[in-house]
Amino acid sequence: MNKPVILTGIKPTGHPHLGNYIGAIKPALEMAKSPILQSMYFIADYHALNAIQDANLFRQYTNEVAATWLALGLDPKRVVFYRQSDVPEILELHWILSCLTPKGLMNRAHAYKSKVDKNKEEGIEIDSGVNMGLYTYPILMASDILLFQSDLVPVGKDQMQHVEIARDIASYFNNTFGETFKLPEYVIQEETAVIPGLDGRKMSKSYNNTIPLFETPEKLKKLIFKIKTDSTLPDEPKDPDTSILITLYKDFATSEEVEQLQKQYLEGIGWGQVKQEVFEVINRELEKPRQKYQMYLDNPRILQDILNEGAHKARTLAQKQLLQIKKMIGC
Ligand code: TRP
Repeated sequence: MNKPVILTGIKPTGHPHLGNYIGAIKPALEMAKSPILQSMYFIADYHALNAIQDANLFRQYTNEVAATWLALGLDPKRVVFYRQSDVPEILELHWILSCLTPKGLMNRAHAYKSKVDKNKEEGIEIDSGVNMGLYTYPILMASDILLFQSDLVPVGKDQMQHVEIARDIASYFNNTFGETFKLPEYVIQEETAVIPGLDGRKMSKSYNNTIPLFETPEKLKKLIFKIKTDSTLPDEPKDPDTSILITLYKDFATSEEVEQLQKQYLEGIGWGQVKQEVFEVINRELEKPRQKYQMYLDNPRILQDILNEGAHKARTLAQKQLLQIKKMIGC
């Protein structure tokens, strides 16, 4: 019996930060351990190409993403872990699906639509700054998903529409050529809590308030000490429920440790001491992964070997599917 396939792609567009780790990477790693699912995790590098057009940066981000997942415990023996651009069958399917996708469906895809809306607002040509990669992005994503007959697709809320588009495209194909593709379901990764950034707003690259995941302990500490606090004095009681630092602490500390710190808040504790505690629990969790991460980045050959092996597994599956798909269309 084949196991249900759970598949997700990670776009390499920046340095991974603590918010990515808590909000997306950690829950995904948990899911990857499921013995009843076949997990497929891939680096969606071709999805980044419409935005990142600098070879060194592109390579760097790809390596960082791969190293991050492996350092945090993704087991390439249990999951199929590969880089999208190593699996050309995805691109072949991309063309086939393009021929079945109504242009109007792409006009309604949110990334393209919001770009057009912005251009209209600014009174410039509506497609200004839009390349075809951005425009057909959802078709590439549908190819990623459908080629492996994925059942479940864990994504953030912003990607729901893309999974719906993949279902639509699968249906067009099935209606035209006969039952071929499974219709995938998305699994929304509910962010259990918003991870606060240095300024208290949600940690996000676009706010420039992130704490990178794998900093040296010194840098990590320095950044944590930059987190915004108010001017209550060390011995004054503080409200643990509205504290950014406690929110962050909760993601790394045991429940006893959290209780203890909350008690200290009520009794009065200096911000410097709180920050030290926060630093210690984060550092405790990331110390070993940080060393592994560095090892992978220092040895790109090891990384490459792992990705090659993953690509081999993915391509074996992909080629079998593609043959079937081509038969359906008459190739
Ligand atoms: N578009 C996704 C993102 O920006 C990444 C992605 C590409 C993806 N292909 C996928 C996610 C297939 C899930 C399944 O986050």
